[in-house]
Amino acid sequence: MNPRIVKDIQSIFVCNLNEFENELNALSLIRKYDEYTYLHCLNVARLSVMLGRRFELDDPDLVDLGWAALLHDLGKLHVPIHILNKVKKFSPEELAIMQSHPLESLAAFVKLQPVTIDTINRLSAAFEHHQRFDLKGYPVVQRKLNLHPFSRIVSVADTFDAMTTDRIYQRRILPDLALRIMSQGFGTIFDPIVLQAFITSMGAYPVGSLVRLSDQRLGFVTGYGKNSRVDRPYLRIMENGISVEEMDLMDDRHSGLRIMHSEFPEDHELEGKFQSWK
Ligand SMILES: [Fe+2]
Repeated sequence: MNPRIVKDIQSIFVCNLNEFENELNALSLIRKYDEYTYLHCLNVARLSVMLGRRFELDDPDLVDLGWAALLHDLGKLHVPIHILNKVKKFSPEELAIMQSHPLESLAAFVKLQPVTIDTINRLSAAFEHHQRFDLKGYPVVQRKLNLHPFSRIVSVADTFDAMTTDRIYQRRILPDLALRIMSQGFGTIFDPIVLQAFITSMGAYPVGSLVRLSDQRLGFVTGYGKNSRVDRPYLRIMENGISVEEMDLMDDRHSGLRIMHSEFPEDHELEGKFQSWK
């Protein structure tokens, strides 16, 4: 077992990895093929399991959801790397290859393990993660069956991570903007219950966001209290690259302050600063 991969998984959910040797091998193939896709799968699993906990899934279901998310893009191993990381627009042939990856994910998943009543939940997101709540999207299906709940969760996590991480061909967008854009897909692209739970969990400004206050100071969002409003988190105020004050925006002393918008940390030489506190 690759110790880095084991550590990465254990930071997301707990399971007996000896029972998932095939899945671990598949994940290490993804990592060897394309580091971005591997990191994306980890992020999608982390966000999916967070949502699963919010929906109070029991431990075996959380493990299934975690694996469903970790391997949802397994079929990208069949997409040539020059297409996977293409900067320019896809040709129709390239788009068809790219959009074949959910079907390839399902095929690869079935090869990994026998399909049984115990493993079926892990398969769902592989095929369905680009299908929308209204059953548009791809692969195009004629039948009108509802998506598996895990697919609805992975779809939200997948979209958010794809929008908020840098790619070779596009700069990421800020997390609060991603949530606002995604909220336009309530009940059409995304399951409204899943999306609402996601937005509530993340807060209007997800943890790690750098925000500009109405008094022009900058601060990192460090968390939300049980009774915090979604736009009034805990902050660490930054001055000249240093954290100078911890603040709870719910505190009456700060009632005159509000968050104006978020900004990119690298525009203020604060890249990696938030991660360094973890
Ligand atoms: Fe995908």
